[in-house]
Amino acid sequence: MSYALEGKVAVVTGGGSGIGAACVRQLCALGASVVVADIVFDNATLVAKEFGDRAVAVEVDVARVEDAERMVETAVAHFGGLDIAVNNAGVGVPVKASVGDTGFEEWRRVLDVNLDGAFFCMRAELRRMRKGGSVVNLASVMGAVAAEGSSSYVASKHALVGLTKTAALDYATAGIRVNAVGAGFVDTPLMAGRDPEWLAAVAASHPLGRLAQPDEIASVVAFLASSAASFVTGAFIPVDGGYLAR
Ligand SMILES: NC(=O)c1ccc[n+]([C@@H]2O[C@H](COP(=O)([O-])OP(=O)(O)OC[C@H]3O[C@@H](n4cnc5c(N)ncnc54)[C@H](O)[C@@H]3O)[C@@H](O)[C@H]2O)c1
Repeated sequence: MSYALEGKVAVVTGGGSGIGAACVRQLCALGASVVVADIVFDNATLVAKEFGDRAVAVEVDVARVEDAERMVETAVAHFGGLDIAVNNAGVGVPVKASVGDTGFEEWRRVLDVNLDGAFFCMRAELRRMRKGGSVVNLASVMGAVAAEGSSSYVASKHALVGLTKTAALDYATAGIRVNAVGAGFVDTPLMAGRDPEWLAAVAASHPLGRLAQPDEIASVVAFLASSAASFVTGAFIPVDGGYLAR
């Protein structure tokens, strides 16, 4: 049992920014080889370049089945298999609105990326993952509770938690673990440009009194990916500065 990931092959979606980039860095630091998948290829390339031959960038829109499958094929072709998948790519709501005011286009895109995208990736990953593998899905505290004006996001993350638990049951006997991380609010580009007053209120809503740093989420993802978490599956693990304890 160990935190080390030497010889393991990982894919990280949304690996070009924020939490995903932090996950790539921690998985590589622990010895894994990583496919950095992102819809913004330049960002994925920049992150992958930090690790030379042990990382490769691919341009992937997780909402496209063929892209999800190509990502997994890249892991197999470049590094010989797949052991770890971090399904992290996600989008937030562009503007907060009540259910009655939520546009169909916004609803569709958030669900397409955050839920269908995670399903397309998991489907491709689980078909190729080796025994002892680990899938970690980036949910949110919004996978357990709700926030006004964010119906598409909240629905996508609640559904992702259900999908995680179902996959954990489906693959337990295959020796593959599947878990979700319930991140509190994290200081990433997803939060950029938000109203400073709103951000201060969000920070105060976490008992620790601040937003998380991406590394504080990535370290739990890396733990779940490792054999140190060998008896953890089907779990929703809050990493939220106490947000859900209130
Ligand atoms: N930042 C937060 O407060 C917070 C809190 C809880 C959960 N999360 C979740 O963590 C994950 C990462 O968020 P982040 O804060 O690092 O955001 P971010 O915007 O910094 O990074 C998201 C990455 O996903 C990529 N991406 C977006 N759509 C994509 C698609 N269709 N296909 C492939 N890549 C795509 C983006 O290009 C970007 O690189 C998301 O699933 C988000 O819902 C974030």
